[in-house]
Amino acid sequence: MNGEREGARPVVLLLSGPNLDLLGDRQPQVYGGLTLEAHVAAARSRATACGVVLEHFQSNAEAALVEAVHGARGRAAAIIVNAAALTHYSWSLADALAAYDGVVVELHLSNPAGREPWRHRSVVAPVARGTIAGFGGLGYELAVEAAARLIAEGPNPAP
Ligand code: DQA
Repeated sequence: MNGEREGARPVVLLLSGPNLDLLGDRQPQVYGGLTLEAHVAAARSRATACGVVLEHFQSNAEAALVEAVHGARGRAAAIIVNAAALTHYSWSLADALAAYDGVVVELHLSNPAGREPWRHRSVVAPVARGTIAGFGGLGYELAVEAAARLIAEGPNPAP
């Protein structure tokens, strides 16, 4: 892929879906007490340590997230996506990610598989290299670490 580097450092785009802007306030018993800004800051410092540049975009609108994925094509080497509730039904986001040629890492603070049945299906999972879920804020750092290592590995999936 060309054009995915800013200087020598690959760009990793972190996408945050609906209601994640309310983190810190929203159901802290489920999602913890940290704000989205705090998670992004942790992800950013992990990114610096891993030699990649982190960009972040949050929206409550499906179309804006689809357009952000389009904008990452040929520019960002990886997308980390916490699509929030869109995870469970947004075929347009899934299609956009399928058309994206970099590494895709699915991320969740909670463990949707252990929650209500409607959260058990992810339409993002089939178009992601893997999923990090259930580790709270630590997941943001793990996702950056995974993305950076997968970028460094190149296009062939790990066995
Ligand atoms: C979430 C899990 C989703 O089921 C939920 O709709 C969210 C957040 C998580 O990070 O745990 O909004 O993606």
